[in-house]
Amino acid sequence: MSVLGIETSCDETAAAVVTGAGEIRANLVLSQLDEHRPYGGVVPEIAARSHLDHIDGLVERAMAEAGIDFPELDGIAVTAGPGLIGGVFVGVMTAKAIALAWDLPFLAVNHLEGHALTARLGTDLAFPYLLLLVSGGHCQLLAVEGVGRYRRLGGTIDDAVGEAFDKTAKLLGLGYPGGPAVERQAAEGDPTAFDLPRPMLGRPGLDFSFSGLKTAVRHAADTAGLLDNPDGDPARKADLAAAFQTAVGDILAERCAKALAVFAEDYGQAGPLVVAGGVAANRHLRQRLDAVAQDAGSALIAPPPALCTDNAAMIAWAGVERLRLGLTDPLDFAARPRWPLEDLGAAAATRAG
Ligand code: KG4
Ligand code: ZN
Repeated sequence: MSVLGIETSCDETAAAVVTGAGEIRANLVLSQLDEHRPYGGVVPEIAARSHLDHIDGLVERAMAEAGIDFPELDGIAVTAGPGLIGGVFVGVMTAKAIALAWDLPFLAVNHLEGHALTARLGTDLAFPYLLLLVSGGHCQLLAVEGVGRYRRLGGTIDDAVGEAFDKTAKLLGLGYPGGPAVERQAAEGDPTAFDLPRPMLGRPGLDFSFSGLKTAVRHAADTAGLLDNPDGDPARKADLAAAFQTAVGDILAERCAKALAVFAEDYGQAGPLVVAGGVAANRHLRQRLDAVAQDAGSALIAPPPALCTDNAAMIAWAGVERLRLGLTDPLDFAARPRWPLEDLGAAAATRAG
């Protein structure tokens, strides 16, 4: 089985071909970073136009690299939401056109399901598992019971973790995208040099909050003369980046430890803990979560960093998983700007019969 995957929901135009055995035959990601950098964030209109300019050529290149022709494909999978809707339209229309032209099954993939199933790509990871999904727009703890079957255990009540990384980078003038820049600075800094809060720590439940931490970082940056100051002391910037990253690590570690206990009670097994989404590329956070998983008698499963940030291999793989279960979609499937993972369960159950 071979599936072509297309991803255009944010600022990466991506196309990939993945087999049923989990072999990645091609995985191309075209970043629009340079186009958005002058604005300090993703501009939806620019993103949509850029996807439109590049998607055809990228699909062609992915197919050539995979060494297969369209008639040999078993399905076309595309991110149909959630995301910036202009970009999503571009990917969905491209995928529908290919599916129609070659009479291939069409698979409308939820971007978050792509992240959620990535850990199974090329591995023998079985359901259920505990998932920490941490990206630019999301921060959730989920019990993954199967394809299309997600039970939300907790989530952020305000900002996403990736957003907090991006804001911190912006405040410190570290550029865009923020996550990798903060991680690089943090490696040089002393995390104890600033005292930052850990919102929700020790509170009941499994929810997260990052807006208080963001405000505290702004205040600390202002006090230390680092706010929007390109000439601010680089060592102090590194210290603040390190303090921020450590605070995030403390929060994620505590919530995941609690979630592992809840998961063990509900499912009668210790983990495994899987981390996914762009923030999962962060090495410091991976180490923290690995320690938490080991303390619970489990293990952390983290996809390679290139499969944590947005890519089309994860969309093609989610397509493979859905195709295997006969969960194909009609060509009039409407793209969705908002599409919570919990809504998938019902859809899958209805379609399966
Ligand atoms: O999953 P993703 O590529 O796109 C979304 O679906 O949102 O995640 C992007 C987010 C951004 O906020 C980015 O700053 C963050 O992931 N990120 C990181 C790292 N690499 C990417 N955050 C912390 N450390 C990193 N190394
Ligand atoms: Zn993503």
